[in-house]
Amino acid sequence: MRKHIVAGNWKMNMTFSEADDLVSAIMDKLEQVTLDANTQMIICPPFPYLEMVSDFGDESYFSVGAQNVSDQEGGAYTGEVSAAMLESMELDYCIVGHSERRAYYHETDAIVAAKVKRLLAHYIRPIVCCGEVLEERESNRQFEVVKRQITDGLFHLTAEEFADVIIAYEPVWAIGTGKTATPDQAEEMHAFIRSLIAEHYGQEVADNTSILYGGSCKPSNAKELFAQPDVDGGLIGGASLKADDFVAIAQAF
Ligand code: PGA
Repeated sequence: MRKHIVAGNWKMNMTFSEADDLVSAIMDKLEQVTLDANTQMIICPPFPYLEMVSDFGDESYFSVGAQNVSDQEGGAYTGEVSAAMLESMELDYCIVGHSERRAYYHETDAIVAAKVKRLLAHYIRPIVCCGEVLEERESNRQFEVVKRQITDGLFHLTAEEFADVIIAYEPVWAIGTGKTATPDQAEEMHAFIRSLIAEHYGQEVADNTSILYGGSCKPSNAKELFAQPDVDGGLIGGASLKADDFVAIAQAF
């Protein structure tokens, strides 16, 4: 059975002490609830807080991931963080190709492909984001766009490598807007993504791939979204900054 995953993407938010308070609050909450045994929680804080959040962690509660990684192996790349560095901190996950990185930092599918390869070479599981912008959905091009992102970003991997990939479908029009995809819209795209994987790697690999939904996911809509057969969890932005909401979303399974 594929894993259910609820991952918090803190983006560029919070001071160090606010971040510290948030993880404490999340830990307190998690100690009071029992999550479904198949649910994995992941927290992706900004780089400078990775160690602090990891130190909190008892991995039985949550794992820690980065929000980005360099496409280069190492060396003279001022300001960049390599997959080797993340591996040396024993991180297990890293978000790649978030729409904000694609839009503001010109991250192409080729760059996403390179980053995914680097991460896997360092035993870090990539959470690879895809999703269309509003104009693409309005012109009914969402499937074409997502197919290109998945094909060009991931299908250079062998089936063995691909087994460590997690996908997050995040329609850009739903991110931070309060506008969520309907459960039907999410399911339709998730099933489509799974069919692409099945075509390329076979049904077994497709059935084992966790595909998360992202975009204004909150406690009030998580249950309905996660009830869809091809929705295996969420990548949570805004609501992951509130301990109660983040844990409530994980309880939706
Ligand atoms: P949101 O962000 O939950 O605030 O819409 C999701 C994301 O960007 O990963």
